[in-house]
Amino acid sequence: MAEPKKLFIKTYGCQMNVYDSERMAEALGASGYVTTQSADDADMILLNTCHIREKAAEKVYSELGRFKALKAANPDLKIGVAGCVAQAEGAEIMRRQPLVDLVVGPQTYHRLPAMEAAVRAGARAVDTDFPQEDKFDHLPKGPRAMRGPSAFLTVQEGCDKFCAFCVVPYTRGAEVSRPVARVLAEAEDLVSRGVREITLLGQNVNAYHGDGAGGAWGLARLIRELARIEGLERIRFTTSHPNDMEDDLIAAHGDEPKLMPYLHLPVQSGSDRILKAMNRKHTAADYLRVIDRLRAARPDLLLSGDFIVGFPGETEADFQDTLALVRAVGYGQAYSFKYSARPGTPAAERAGVADDVASDRLARLQALLAQQQREIQEAMVGREVSVLLEKPGRMAGQMVGKSEYLHAVHVTDPRAKSGDIARVRIVESRPNSLAGVLV
Ligand code: 5AD
Ligand code: SF4
Repeated sequence: MAEPKKLFIKTYGCQMNVYDSERMAEALGASGYVTTQSADDADMILLNTCHIREKAAEKVYSELGRFKALKAANPDLKIGVAGCVAQAEGAEIMRRQPLVDLVVGPQTYHRLPAMEAAVRAGARAVDTDFPQEDKFDHLPKGPRAMRGPSAFLTVQEGCDKFCAFCVVPYTRGAEVSRPVARVLAEAEDLVSRGVREITLLGQNVNAYHGDGAGGAWGLARLIRELARIEGLERIRFTTSHPNDMEDDLIAAHGDEPKLMPYLHLPVQSGSDRILKAMNRKHTAADYLRVIDRLRAARPDLLLSGDFIVGFPGETEADFQDTLALVRAVGYGQAYSFKYSARPGTPAAERAGVADDVASDRLARLQALLAQQQREIQEAMVGREVSVLLEKPGRMAGQMVGKSEYLHAVHVTDPRAKSGDIARVRIVESRPNSLAGVLV
């Protein structure tokens, strides 16, 4: 039998890319590839890229440059670029980097086996279509590659919101929801193989409207149906838009015990003027009202968010509104970014804020967010949480898992086993994790 060929995939960006990388590995598995953890012995290297901010794409180009020596040592090595940079600049990548054999966008990676064959035959292949067919119908149906008791499941892709700064509607395309039956079948398969927590993924996941019995189902109904799967203990979803936070989804946070008390709900800015310029179609007060209703349903809900500073036209007063919103919410965790102009987006036409001003704002915002995160973590000390143990930690005998609130929790105890949901008392707060003891 021929030696299996080795595939090395490096994943950038969001959780959906992590999910897509697993699907690409399965698709190429049918062409005789097994995955490897190192680029050095690979027969194919795939970079699954992110285009959301400028540096992400630049990192890809510098990474590609580093493969030159590998390709010189192994002329049979094939190099591919997948994901959103591939979608946005497919032909440009081929021009700029002759080392690249293959470019595949997020909606066509089910065609990878055919592309791989073409590339092995000496061609260079680019496919960045938005095809009519659904890639999920054309991917291998066999067992999914397993990575512990917590898994991602894509239920929705693309976005119709067109925030003025964002490339997602262009790279991932229009909003599409997977049918309910497909989602349930994938979830049941995961659970039958030991998964206890599923995170539903979508660029706009709470706009989910998949075909189900009797018509389109919203996300809340999907979650309630998933919750009936025996053995599935925890459900999460990400990422949501404030305008799609419907009543039934808010209610589910209060009455569906398997839905975890953590929500990533980006707001981007606290200034109504900037929100309008961003085409967000909500005000700061609208957002705060949604948060109030969520907390009325689930008082211990831990909130996470995304923020952009230095959006074109942002003044110090606008930025103060963002700080005020952050103070009003109290985030357990958050991501914040300096605005970067993305070619092809409406905001890219507008003059940006001076870089040193934006950097200064980012530092002030991050200091506030870090303080909130620390305070909320410190308030966990002494409390009991339940932790889904996932994998060994860095220290001997240590296991690491996630609490209901998505805090990473370390436990050192020989009884701690991967896949268990353990009651843990938190004893210490560390910079990005908690330490606890089994109770
Ligand atoms: N510049 C900076 N941050 C951006 N994001 C999206 N586009 C940009 C951009 N052009 C951020 C938003 C989004 C997160 C995934 O990335 O905060 O919610
Ligand atoms: Fe991008 Fe999210 Fe806005 Fe859609 S809702 S355009 S994915 S920031």
